[in-house]
Amino acid sequence: TRRVRTRDLLAAKERGERWPMLTSYDQYTAAIFEQAGIPVLLVGDSAANNVFGYETTVPVTADDLLPLVRAVVRATNYALVVADLPFGSYEEGPTQALRTAVRFMKEGGCHAVKLEGGRRVAEQIRAITGAGIPVMGHVGFTPQSEHTIGGYRVQGRGDAAEDVVADAVAVAEAGAFSVVLEMVPGEVAKRITHEVSIPTVGIGAGPDCDAQVLVWQDMAGMRSGRMPRFVKRYADLNGVLTEATRRFATEVRGGDFPTLDHTF
Ligand code: KIV
Ligand code: NA
Repeated sequence: TRRVRTRDLLAAKERGERWPMLTSYDQYTAAIFEQAGIPVLLVGDSAANNVFGYETTVPVTADDLLPLVRAVVRATNYALVVADLPFGSYEEGPTQALRTAVRFMKEGGCHAVKLEGGRRVAEQIRAITGAGIPVMGHVGFTPQSEHTIGGYRVQGRGDAAEDVVADAVAVAEAGAFSVVLEMVPGEVAKRITHEVSIPTVGIGAGPDCDAQVLVWQDMAGMRSGRMPRFVKRYADLNGVLTEATRRFATEVRGGDFPTLDHTF
Protein backbone atom coordinates (compact mmCIF):
# COMPACT_ATOMS: atom_id res chain seq x y z
CA THR A 1 0.00 0.00 0.00
CA ARG A 2 1.03 3.58 -0.60
CA ARG A 3 1.00 6.66 1.59
CA VAL A 4 -2.41 8.25 2.21
CA ARG A 5 -2.94 11.54 0.35
CA THR A 6 -5.15 14.50 1.17
CA ARG A 7 -7.25 13.67 -1.94
CA ASP A 8 -8.02 10.25 -0.42
CA LEU A 9 -9.54 12.02 2.57
CA LEU A 10 -11.66 14.28 0.36
CA ALA A 11 -12.81 11.19 -1.59
CA ALA A 12 -13.72 9.46 1.70
CA LYS A 13 -16.00 12.38 2.58
CA GLU A 14 -17.68 12.16 -0.81
CA ARG A 15 -18.31 8.43 -0.20
CA GLY A 16 -19.55 9.12 3.33
CA GLU A 17 -16.71 7.10 4.92
CA ARG A 18 -15.49 8.18 8.36
CA TRP A 19 -11.83 7.94 9.38
CA PRO A 20 -9.89 7.95 12.66
CA MET A 21 -6.92 10.16 13.53
CA LEU A 22 -4.60 9.97 16.56
CA THR A 23 -1.72 12.01 17.84
CA SER A 24 1.71 10.36 17.84
CA TYR A 25 5.05 11.67 19.03
CA ASP A 26 7.40 8.68 18.68
CA GLN A 27 8.30 5.72 16.50
CA TYR A 28 6.59 2.86 18.38
CA THR A 29 3.16 4.43 18.66
CA ALA A 30 3.37 5.67 15.05
CA ALA A 31 4.09 2.17 13.72
CA ILE A 32 1.43 0.55 15.92
CA PHE A 33 -1.23 3.10 14.97
CA GLU A 34 -0.75 2.83 11.21
CA GLN A 35 -0.64 -0.99 11.45
CA ALA A 36 -3.92 -0.82 13.40
CA GLY A 37 -5.55 1.22 10.64
CA ILE A 38 -5.11 4.90 11.45
CA PRO A 39 -4.65 6.75 8.13
CA VAL A 40 -3.70 10.16 9.56
CA LEU A 41 -1.28 10.82 12.43
CA LEU A 42 -0.91 14.21 14.07
CA VAL A 43 2.32 15.28 15.71
CA GLY A 44 0.34 17.71 17.85
CA ASP A 45 1.66 20.60 19.86
CA SER A 46 -0.16 18.66 22.61
CA ALA A 47 3.32 17.14 22.94
CA ALA A 48 3.74 20.16 25.21
CA ASN A 49 1.41 18.54 27.75
CA ASN A 50 1.82 14.88 26.88
CA VAL A 51 5.57 14.61 26.23
CA PHE A 52 7.29 17.64 27.74
CA GLY A 53 5.11 18.11 30.83
CA TYR A 54 4.06 21.74 30.32
CA GLU A 55 0.71 23.02 31.64
CA THR A 56 -0.31 24.47 28.27
CA THR A 57 0.76 24.23 24.62
CA VAL A 58 2.08 27.81 24.69
CA PRO A 59 5.77 27.11 25.52
CA VAL A 60 6.51 24.40 22.95
CA THR A 61 8.69 25.44 19.99
CA ALA A 62 9.39 24.27 16.45
CA ASP A 63 12.80 23.07 17.67
CA ASP A 64 11.03 20.91 20.29
CA LEU A 65 8.53 19.43 17.81
CA LEU A 66 10.73 18.80 14.76
CA PRO A 67 12.59 15.76 16.17
CA LEU A 68 9.22 14.18 17.07
CA VAL A 69 7.93 14.84 13.55
CA ARG A 70 11.01 13.17 12.06
CA ALA A 71 10.55 10.13 14.33
CA VAL A 72 6.90 9.65 13.32
CA VAL A 73 7.64 10.10 9.61
CA ARG A 74 10.57 7.65 9.74
CA ALA A 75 8.45 5.02 11.50
CA THR A 76 5.58 5.07 9.00
CA ASN A 77 5.00 3.97 5.41
CA TYR A 78 1.29 4.52 5.00
CA ALA A 79 -0.08 7.22 7.31
CA LEU A 80 -0.33 10.85 6.26
CA VAL A 81 1.64 12.76 8.91
CA VAL A 82 0.36 16.20 9.91
CA ALA A 83 2.48 18.46 12.14
CA ASP A 84 1.19 21.29 14.31
CA LEU A 85 2.71 24.73 13.89
CA PRO A 86 3.38 25.82 17.49
CA PHE A 87 2.21 29.03 19.13
CA GLY A 88 4.30 32.01 18.01
CA SER A 89 5.44 30.45 14.74
CA TYR A 90 2.72 31.79 12.39
CA GLU A 91 0.78 34.64 14.08
CA GLU A 92 2.95 37.45 12.69
CA GLY A 93 1.58 36.94 9.21
CA PRO A 94 1.71 34.94 5.98
CA THR A 95 5.48 35.32 5.57
CA GLN A 96 6.29 33.92 9.00
CA ALA A 97 3.65 31.19 8.62
CA LEU A 98 5.02 30.07 5.26
CA ARG A 99 8.59 30.11 6.56
CA THR A 100 7.61 27.86 9.49
CA ALA A 101 5.54 25.53 7.32
CA VAL A 102 8.44 25.12 4.87
CA ARG A 103 10.71 24.28 7.81
CA PHE A 104 8.34 21.54 8.99
CA MET A 105 8.12 20.09 5.46
CA LYS A 106 11.88 20.18 4.81
CA GLU A 107 13.31 19.40 8.25
CA GLY A 108 10.41 17.37 9.63
CA GLY A 109 9.45 15.53 6.45
CA CYS A 110 5.74 15.74 7.29
CA HIS A 111 3.05 15.74 4.60
CA ALA A 112 0.86 18.57 5.89
CA VAL A 113 0.80 21.19 8.63
CA LYS A 114 -1.95 22.32 11.00
CA LEU A 115 -2.50 25.71 12.58
CA GLU A 116 -5.12 27.16 14.91
CA GLY A 117 -7.66 29.85 14.10
CA GLY A 118 -10.32 30.67 11.53
CA ARG A 119 -10.83 34.04 9.83
CA ARG A 120 -7.82 35.52 11.64
CA VAL A 121 -5.38 33.08 9.95
CA ALA A 122 -7.03 32.84 6.51
CA GLU A 123 -4.15 34.80 4.93
CA GLN A 124 -1.63 32.42 6.51
CA ILE A 125 -3.49 29.38 5.17
CA ARG A 126 -3.60 31.01 1.71
CA ALA A 127 0.14 31.60 1.73
CA ILE A 128 1.00 28.07 2.85
CA THR A 129 -1.39 26.25 0.51
CA GLY A 130 -0.30 28.59 -2.29
CA ALA A 131 3.21 27.22 -1.85
CA GLY A 132 1.97 23.65 -2.33
CA ILE A 133 1.82 22.63 1.32
CA PRO A 134 -1.44 21.02 2.52
CA VAL A 135 -3.00 22.71 5.55
CA MET A 136 -5.38 21.34 8.17
CA GLY A 137 -7.30 24.07 10.01
CA HIS A 138 -8.38 24.00 13.67
CA VAL A 139 -11.36 26.02 14.93
CA GLY A 140 -13.71 26.09 17.91
CA PHE A 141 -11.66 25.71 21.07
CA THR A 142 -8.04 26.47 20.18
CA PRO A 143 -5.69 25.52 23.05
CA GLN A 144 -2.95 27.99 22.04
CA SER A 145 -5.44 30.79 22.90
CA GLU A 146 -6.61 29.32 26.18
CA HIS A 147 -5.50 32.38 28.17
CA THR A 148 -7.82 34.56 26.07
CA ILE A 149 -10.65 32.03 25.94
CA GLY A 150 -10.39 31.49 29.71
CA GLY A 151 -9.67 27.78 29.94
CA TYR A 152 -11.07 24.70 28.23
CA ARG A 153 -14.55 25.87 27.22
CA VAL A 154 -17.03 24.76 24.60
CA GLN A 155 -17.08 27.30 21.73
CA GLY A 156 -20.06 28.15 19.55
CA ARG A 157 -22.97 27.82 21.96
CA GLY A 158 -26.07 29.88 21.10
CA ASP A 159 -25.35 32.99 19.02
CA ALA A 160 -21.62 32.21 18.99
CA ALA A 161 -22.38 29.33 16.59
CA GLU A 162 -22.18 31.77 13.67
CA ASP A 163 -18.59 32.67 14.60
CA VAL A 164 -17.44 29.05 14.56
CA VAL A 165 -19.26 28.39 11.27
CA ALA A 166 -17.67 31.52 9.73
CA ASP A 167 -14.24 30.37 10.93
CA ALA A 168 -14.63 26.88 9.44
CA VAL A 169 -15.89 28.32 6.13
CA ALA A 170 -12.97 30.79 6.04
CA VAL A 171 -10.48 27.95 6.59
CA ALA A 172 -12.07 25.91 3.78
CA GLU A 173 -12.17 28.92 1.41
CA ALA A 174 -8.51 29.66 2.15
CA GLY A 175 -7.61 26.25 0.74
CA ALA A 176 -7.31 23.91 3.74
CA PHE A 177 -7.86 20.21 2.98
CA SER A 178 -9.51 19.48 6.33
CA VAL A 179 -10.49 21.22 9.56
CA VAL A 180 -10.43 20.15 13.21
CA LEU A 181 -13.53 21.16 15.22
CA GLU A 182 -12.62 21.14 18.91
CA MET A 183 -15.22 21.35 21.68
CA VAL A 184 -18.14 22.71 19.65
CA PRO A 185 -21.77 21.63 20.14
CA GLY A 186 -22.71 18.56 18.12
CA GLU A 187 -25.37 20.44 16.17
CA VAL A 188 -22.88 23.14 15.12
CA ALA A 189 -20.32 20.52 14.04
CA LYS A 190 -23.03 18.76 12.03
CA ARG A 191 -23.96 21.99 10.28
CA ILE A 192 -20.31 22.78 9.44
CA THR A 193 -19.77 19.22 8.17
CA HIS A 194 -22.64 19.73 5.72
CA GLU A 195 -21.63 23.27 4.72
CA VAL A 196 -17.97 22.68 3.86
CA SER A 197 -16.73 20.25 1.23
CA ILE A 198 -13.53 19.40 3.17
CA PRO A 199 -13.53 16.72 5.90
CA THR A 200 -14.21 17.87 9.46
CA VAL A 201 -12.23 16.16 12.23
CA GLY A 202 -14.04 16.29 15.55
CA ILE A 203 -12.70 16.27 19.09
CA GLY A 204 -15.49 16.91 21.54
CA ALA A 205 -17.67 17.83 18.55
CA GLY A 206 -20.16 14.97 18.45
CA PRO A 207 -20.74 12.04 16.09
CA ASP A 208 -21.54 13.87 12.86
CA CYS A 209 -18.02 14.91 11.83
CA ASP A 210 -16.29 13.19 8.90
CA ALA A 211 -13.42 12.04 11.15
CA GLN A 212 -12.53 11.86 14.85
CA VAL A 213 -9.25 12.58 16.64
CA LEU A 214 -8.02 11.94 20.17
CA VAL A 215 -4.72 12.43 21.94
CA TRP A 216 -3.31 8.90 22.05
CA GLN A 217 -2.48 8.94 25.76
CA ASP A 218 -6.15 9.76 26.45
CA MET A 219 -7.44 7.09 24.03
CA ALA A 220 -5.22 4.36 25.51
CA GLY A 221 -5.42 5.39 29.17
CA MET A 222 -1.74 6.22 29.47
CA ARG A 223 -2.52 9.48 31.23
CA SER A 224 -3.93 9.29 34.73
CA GLY A 225 -6.26 11.73 36.45
CA ARG A 226 -9.39 13.54 35.31
CA MET A 227 -10.21 13.32 31.65
CA PRO A 228 -12.41 15.67 29.60
CA ARG A 229 -15.93 14.39 28.90
CA PHE A 230 -15.19 13.85 25.18
CA VAL A 231 -12.46 11.27 25.88
CA LYS A 232 -13.12 7.55 25.75
CA ARG A 233 -10.43 5.28 27.24
CA TYR A 234 -9.94 2.14 25.14
CA ALA A 235 -7.27 0.61 27.40
CA ASP A 236 -5.57 1.07 30.75
CA LEU A 237 -1.94 1.47 29.69
CA ASN A 238 -1.24 3.40 32.86
CA GLY A 239 -2.34 0.39 34.91
CA VAL A 240 -0.50 -2.11 32.71
CA LEU A 241 2.77 -0.15 32.89
CA THR A 242 2.46 0.51 36.61
CA GLU A 243 1.95 -3.21 37.28
CA ALA A 244 4.87 -4.27 35.04
CA THR A 245 7.12 -1.70 36.70
CA ARG A 246 6.14 -2.88 40.20
CA ARG A 247 6.93 -6.50 39.31
CA PHE A 248 10.32 -5.55 37.82
CA ALA A 249 11.16 -3.51 40.93
CA THR A 250 10.07 -6.30 43.27
CA GLU A 251 12.03 -8.97 41.39
CA VAL A 252 15.21 -6.90 41.35
CA ARG A 253 14.90 -6.17 45.07
CA GLY A 254 14.19 -9.84 45.81
CA GLY A 255 17.00 -11.19 43.65
CA ASP A 256 14.49 -12.92 41.32
CA PHE A 257 15.64 -11.03 38.21
CA PRO A 258 17.86 -11.76 36.40
CA THR A 259 17.97 -15.57 36.53
CA LEU A 260 20.51 -17.77 34.78
CA ASP A 261 18.21 -17.61 31.70
CA HIS A 262 19.05 -13.91 31.37
CA THR A 263 22.75 -14.35 32.07
CA PHE A 264 25.66 -14.89 29.65
O1 KIV B 1 -2.27 18.98 19.45
C1 KIV B 1 -3.25 18.20 19.37
O2 KIV B 1 -3.25 17.11 19.94
C2 KIV B 1 -4.40 18.61 18.56
C3 KIV B 1 -5.55 17.68 18.39
C4 KIV B 1 -6.18 17.25 19.65
C5 KIV B 1 -6.52 18.13 17.39
O3 KIV B 1 -4.36 19.69 18.02
NA1 NA C 1 -2.67 21.02 18.58
